[in-house]
Amino acid sequence: MTTLPLFDTATQLLPLRGELDRAVARVLDSGRFIGGPEVSAFEDEFAEYVDADFAVGVGNGTDALMLALRAVGVEAGDDVVVPSFTFYATAEAVAAIGARPVFCDIDPQTMNVTAETVAAALTPTTTAVIAVHLFGLPAPIGELRALAVEHNFKIVEDAAQAAGAKLDGLPAGSLGDAATFSFFPSKNLGAFGDAGIVTTNDSNVADTVKLLRHHGSTNKQQHTLVGYNSRLDALQASMLRVLLPHLDEWNNHRRAAAQVYDSAGIAEFAEPQVIPAGAEPVFHLYVVAHDDADAVTAALAEAGVEARGYYRTPIHRQPAMAEFGAGAQLPGTEKAAAANVALPISPAITPEQVSQVVNALAKLPASA
Ligand SMILES: Cc1ncc(COP(=O)(O)O)c(C=O)c1O
Repeated sequence: MTTLPLFDTATQLLPLRGELDRAVARVLDSGRFIGGPEVSAFEDEFAEYVDADFAVGVGNGTDALMLALRAVGVEAGDDVVVPSFTFYATAEAVAAIGARPVFCDIDPQTMNVTAETVAAALTPTTTAVIAVHLFGLPAPIGELRALAVEHNFKIVEDAAQAAGAKLDGLPAGSLGDAATFSFFPSKNLGAFGDAGIVTTNDSNVADTVKLLRHHGSTNKQQHTLVGYNSRLDALQASMLRVLLPHLDEWNNHRRAAAQVYDSAGIAEFAEPQVIPAGAEPVFHLYVVAHDDADAVTAALAEAGVEARGYYRTPIHRQPAMAEFGAGAQLPGTEKAAAANVALPISPAITPEQVSQVVNALAKLPASA
C-alpha cells in the first residue's frame, strides 16, 4: 500500500523543471551569487505580491524574525509577547536577540492568539508582539492593532506558514509593523534550501533590516550596527521568482481540498481549525482537533495515511525556555497541543485522497 504523505512538495514542481533549470543557469552564467539583480527582482516581486512597500531577503525565517524585531526597535531586556503554540523559532528569535519571550495563550478553536490572550500577557516593558498566522490562518491583527495603539507596542507578523493568506482582503505581510516569511522547502512557497524575507511599509525598518543582514554595513567599510551575515542567495531568489507566479493557484488547490474535507463531513469525526469571518487561510496544514489524537494518527496510519500532531510540547515547556516559560498557565495552548492532528494537504492532493482520509476517520469514535 502506498502511503498518502502529509505533504507533497515535489509534484507541483514537475512542470516547472525546465524554467527552474534556466533560472539556475542564468545565475551560474552571471557569476553574481550574493545580492545582485535576481535578489532585488524577487524582493520587488514579493513586495508587490503581499502589497507591502518593501521586502528585504534574508537567510531564513528565523533570521527574518530576529532582524525584524530589532528593526522595529526591540532591544535586549525588552519583553516580547509570543504564542507558545507555534514552531520553536518564533520564541527562539526573541531570546536570541537578548529580549524576553512572554508566552500568551491561544484560542484552541482558531489555534491563534486573540486580543484577549495578548492583553493578558502584556507587561510594562512589552515593546512588541509576534502574531503568528498559524497553519496559514491569519491572526486577528485588526484587534491587536487597537491594543498596540493603547499600549504602545509593535506588531511583527510571523507569516512563515501564511504566504498568500489574507485578512479582510489584505495580504498577510502587509498587516503589521513588519512581517516575516520562511521559504523552507515545505512551506507554501518553498525554496531549494533555506531562505526568508522581511516585509514592511516602513522605510526605516527596511533600511535597518538591510543593514543587519549585511554586518551592519552598506559598504563593508563603515559598520554602524552589530549585525549578521543573513542574505538571500541569488540562486534561491532566481528559483523563487519562477515559483511565485504559481503560489495563488497552489493555494487555491489547498483551499479546494479543505472544502472537500469539510463537505465530506470531517466535522462529524473531529474539529477542524475554526476560520473566523474575514480570514482567507492558505492551509499550510489542514489541522483538526480530537480528544484521542493518538488514536487518530494510528487509525490513519493503518489506512495508509500519514498524519502528525504538531508542537505537542508547547514552547513554554521546552527545556531551553525554562527561564521564560516557568509558571505560565496556558489552557488553550495545552488543549491544542494535545489534540491537534495535521491531515494531508498539498497543491497536488486529489478529492479521492481526501475522501480516503475522511473514510478512515469515520471508523473512529467521534471527538467529544
Ligand atoms: C511559524 C514559524 N516561524 C518561524 C519559522 C522559521 O523559519 P525557518 O525554518 O526558515 O528559519 C517557521 C518554519 O520553519 C515557522 O513555521
